[in-house]
Amino acid sequence: SQNIYILGIESSCDDTAASVIHNGKILSNVIASQKIHEEYGGVVPELASRAHQQNIVPVVHQALKKAGITKEQLHAVAFTRGPGLMGSLLVGTSFAKSFAYGLNIPLIDVNHMQAHILAHFIDEEGFNKPSFPFIAMTISGGHTQIVEVKSHFDMTVIGETIDDAVGEAYDKSGKILGLGYPAGPEIDKRAQKGNPKAYQFTKPKVAGLNFSFSGLKTAILYFVQREVKANPNFIEENLNNICASIQYTIIGILIDKLKLATKQTGIKQIAIGGGVSANSGIRQALKDGEQKFGWTTYVPKFEFTTDNAAMIAIVGYLKYLEGDFAEQNITASARLKI
Ligand code: KG4
Ligand code: ZN
Repeated sequence: SQNIYILGIESSCDDTAASVIHNGKILSNVIASQKIHEEYGGVVPELASRAHQQNIVPVVHQALKKAGITKEQLHAVAFTRGPGLMGSLLVGTSFAKSFAYGLNIPLIDVNHMQAHILAHFIDEEGFNKPSFPFIAMTISGGHTQIVEVKSHFDMTVIGETIDDAVGEAYDKSGKILGLGYPAGPEIDKRAQKGNPKAYQFTKPKVAGLNFSFSGLKTAILYFVQREVKANPNFIEENLNNICASIQYTIIGILIDKLKLATKQTGIKQIAIGGGVSANSGIRQALKDGEQKFGWTTYVPKFEFTTDNAAMIAIVGYLKYLEGDFAEQNITASARLKI
């Protein structure tokens, strides 16, 4: 009956992305990733903002072209309002505001963390949508949260990191081991070839559903320094085992908290999102949880796990159906909460 086209725009960190969604289906999902940060071993905010300014017009243009529609066919423009880097958010926010204003169509603000969760509601063959209520765990380089999701827009954060995000734990461990940035994918690859019990790292003691990863990073640093003192080739000779042991510890921390979350809430449906959901260890552990604990688990298609605009567009669509629009005077919000 309805025939709704929504443009989604994402610019919260270092990816400039635009996507067009037709009802619940993705027609295009374009991303310009910024390679420049690799040289610095992390995202440089000033460089990110400048790259967004260069990329945003061509990326939006391409998203419309790939979708096979003109901008006049759009029903609304959705954009990431926060959380994220202020200089990056401002580029997408200003662009979305003027684009919607020029076309005289509604503007829709999207919370990036909600979007990582609601990406599960994109219509995609072979992927089931979770039913409410479910537990969502968002794990990436910028965030680590456990959220109780009662409906599309009724969400409560029931746990989060008190220091580093889980992706940062991967990336900082990688730096200690001399791996490139971001190190998550390589640690994961090597972990699959190593012995997860070769070395033991103590898990942090954090009450309830909160996480802490900075102590683990320090423990790994001291461990590696000590071993290298005794054998300068320690890292090269044992890299796969070190990676496997780090991964085993990190996945153990995540699964312990999920077990506690299911116990506390009585909810056994679990959905994950964010770049670290690509990890083979977490995917296997969730599958094991289905057998061992009776969980039902949801892992999104890879392209919807890392930062992307399709997840912004789907939230735009869901808000459009509810008539939940933003005013033209809305501003970006670096610390926006769920
Ligand atoms: O969601 P994302 O693309 O960007 C944000 O941080 O928002 O996530 C990137 C993070 C990086 O820390 C990267 O190391 C991690 O996700 N990552 C992985 C894997 N693939 C990406 N960590 C562990 N295993 C992976 N396979
Ligand atoms: Zn993200």
